Amino acid sequence: MQRIGVLTSGGDAPGMNAAIRAVTRTGLASGFEVYGVPRGYYGLIEGTFTPLGARDVGGIIQRGGTMLMTARCPEFRTPEGQRQALQSLAAARIDGLIVIGGGGSMAGAATLGDQGFPVVGLPASIDNDLHGTDMAVGADTALNTALDAIDRIKDTATSHNRAFIIEVMGRNSGFLALMAGVAGGAEVIAVPEIPFDPQTVIDAIREARRKGKPHFIVVVAEGSRWNGRELGDFLQQHAPADRFETRLTILGHVQRGGSPTAFDRLLATRLGIAAVEHLQAGRSGVMVGLRGNVIGATPLVEVINTCRSVDRQFYEVARILAL
Ligand code: ADP
Ligand code: F6P
Repeated sequence: MQRIGVLTSGGDAPGMNAAIRAVTRTGLASGFEVYGVPRGYYGLIEGTFTPLGARDVGGIIQRGGTMLMTARCPEFRTPEGQRQALQSLAAARIDGLIVIGGGGSMAGAATLGDQGFPVVGLPASIDNDLHGTDMAVGADTALNTALDAIDRIKDTATSHNRAFIIEVMGRNSGFLALMAGVAGGAEVIAVPEIPFDPQTVIDAIREARRKGKPHFIVVVAEGSRWNGRELGDFLQQHAPADRFETRLTILGHVQRGGSPTAFDRLLATRLGIAAVEHLQAGRSGVMVGLRGNVIGATPLVEVINTCRSVDRQFYEVARILAL
C-alpha cells in the first residue's frame, strides 16, 4: 500500500480536523502518500483528490468543522455511485481509505469494504450512537456546549421562576440529552430509547412547586417521541394553573460547532493513529474505537448492524438525582 485517502462524511463534529491531522501525519511518517477527499463521498465519486503534506494540516487541531468539508451524498447509496467511487480510487491509484464520520458514513465504508477495497472507519458524530466505541469524536464537545447552554438558561429560569424545555440534538440517540441533563441537574429528561409520558412532566412540575424549586428544567432529545415543541404545546394545554411559566430553547446546530475539547482532540488523535496502523497492517473492514481506555477495532459489519442505546440504569439514576 502506498497511497491512502481520508474523507469526512455526514454531520460535521468537533475534532474531525484533529483526526485528519493525525491520519495525515501518521500516514506520512509511515511512508504513505496521503490524499484528502473533499465533501465526503461526493469527492470519491468525482475523483477529486488533494495531496496532503504535514504543513497542510497545521493549525487545525483546535478548529471545529472539517477542513476537508463534509456532505450527505445520496448518490453513494446506489451501486452506481459506489462503482464510480471505486473507479476514481483506482484511477488515482489510491489503495486504502480512512472514513471519518457517523453511523451512515460507516455504512458507506462497509460497502467499499464488502467490494474488496481496504477501508478503516473512524467514528465522529455528536450523536455518539455508534456501536464499537464508548465515545465518538465530537460528542464530548457537543455535550459541553449543551451543558454550558443549560447552565446559562438555569440562571435566567431561576431569576424568573420559570420552566424551560431545552431540546438537544442526537438524531435517534438520547446520549446528549441524558448526559447533558444529568450534568446540568435537569428535573426531567426525555430520550428516544425510553418510553416517556408527558403527563409525568406535569406531575413533576406540581411536585417541584410544592418543594419550592425555583426553576424547572426539562432536557429533551430531538428524536424523542415528544420533541421540545410538542412537549411545550402539551404543557400549554394541560399544565395546572399554578404551573411555571414555560419557555422553549432549541439548541440546534450550535452544538455542532466550536473548538474541540481536550478529550476530543486526544481521542481524534489516538483514533487517527490507530486507523493508519490498521490499514498498514492489512486489518481493514473495521472501525477503530475507544473501549474503556483502550483503542481497539470492531468489524464494520458489526458496527452497522448493532443498535446502541442509552444506559437505562443511568436514566433511572437521573430520576433519583432530580428529587
Ligand atoms: P452520519 O455519518 O453522520 O451518520 P449520514 O447518515 O447522513 O451521516 O450518512 C453520511 C453519508 O454516508 C450519506 O450521505 C451517504 O453518502 C453514506 N451512507 C449512509 N448510509 C449508507 C448506506 N447504507 N450505503 C452506502 N452509503 C451510505
Ligand atoms: O448527526 C448529527 C446531527 O447533528 C444530528 O444530531 C441531527 O439530527 C442532524 O445531524 C442534523 O442534520 P443537518 O445538519 O443535516 O440538519
